Amino acid sequence: MPESKTSTDTTNPMADPAARLALTDTIPNVPGVSKPDPILVVDNVVRQFGGMTAVNVDHLEVQRGLITALIGPNGAGKTTFFNLITGFDRPTSAKSRFGSSEGAASWAFDGRQLGRTSASAVSKAGMVRTFQLTKSLNRMTVLENMMLGARGQSGENLLTCWLKPTWLGQEKVIEDKAKELLSRFKLLRKKDDYAGSLSGGQRKLLEMARALMTDPTMIMLDEPMAGVNPALTQSLLGHIQALRDDGMTVLFVEHDMHMVRHISDWVIVMAEGRIIAEGRAHEVMADTAVIDAYLGAHHDTDLSDDSLLEDMPGAERMHRKAEAHEEEVARKGAAATKEKNQ
Ligand SMILES: Nc1ncnc2c1ncn2[C@@H]1O[C@H](COP(=O)(O)OP(=O)(O)OP(=O)(O)O)[C@@H](O)[C@H]1O
Ligand SMILES: [Mg+2]
Repeated sequence: MPESKTSTDTTNPMADPAARLALTDTIPNVPGVSKPDPILVVDNVVRQFGGMTAVNVDHLEVQRGLITALIGPNGAGKTTFFNLITGFDRPTSAKSRFGSSEGAASWAFDGRQLGRTSASAVSKAGMVRTFQLTKSLNRMTVLENMMLGARGQSGENLLTCWLKPTWLGQEKVIEDKAKELLSRFKLLRKKDDYAGSLSGGQRKLLEMARALMTDPTMIMLDEPMAGVNPALTQSLLGHIQALRDDGMTVLFVEHDMHMVRHISDWVIVMAEGRIIAEGRAHEVMADTAVIDAYLGAHHDTDLSDDSLLEDMPGAERMHRKAEAHEEEVARKGAAATKEKNQ
């Protein structure tokens, strides 16, 4: 069985770099700009935690068939935005913001309104996501985790799905598919190990492989490279490009600017919950608003300078950051609940 997938689908026009450049050439570098063929269209999505506005997106479109990066400083609202769009969280209601239902949040995926849709229904509609903090089930094997992935978004009714009789007839087909994907992500020899025994990077790979079990139309990856061994980084980049070349739309959050520049066709920048810039990677990284958002007062620093990024997250640093982030989110969540209950 091949260990990596390098084939490209020549029937997909977006597999051709020149076609992608020609397409992005037609899109002005304006935050919230319309796209020629958007697969995701988002309007008025706001999420507040207590008095703090984490996400405040007036309008955003994601072009079908491209790799789009969503970048922004820590706390910009990227993960919260993913949670909202994929049904893992709900926007703050328009009513509580404006005192009327005007400007209500709405978003459509592939022409279908998803505003009140559950996470598992979003996944069935073809939009799947991975998590910044991985959600593999540690006491199940790698292969079992994969097979559960065939039934929808992780974390949703997985055990009941496992017991459904309809599952049994399909088991062999699903297992073959799981093994093929594990092989692609170099995890096949780990198939009988507990997911809990994998390294942080391997768990990231498992989560991505599992997301692909549902044959999504669009995959949303939240920091797919965080903690991944540098030896695997290159092949993971290749996998993501191969998904795009096979016709999938990819939206990913990433802090590693090497990766952003290397694989994204389009970049969207978020800061303090808002979309502040869009464009191709090199254009966006030269944008003063983007440099300001990332670097505060250090105006003399150039985001397109690779040497600046040499010390961008190593596995250990990302792990610590994820832990600190988790603690902060828990602390804020507790504070918001306390405030609400008072
Ligand atoms: N459940 C929650 N309760 C309270 N505050 C939250 C919650 N989730 C997120 N926040 C806050 O909302 C803001 C946006 O957080 P979010 O995790 O979306 O940022 P991010 O852009 O993904 O950051 P990072 O790059 O560090 O992952 C932060 O200030 C965060 O602390
Ligand atoms: Mg995040």
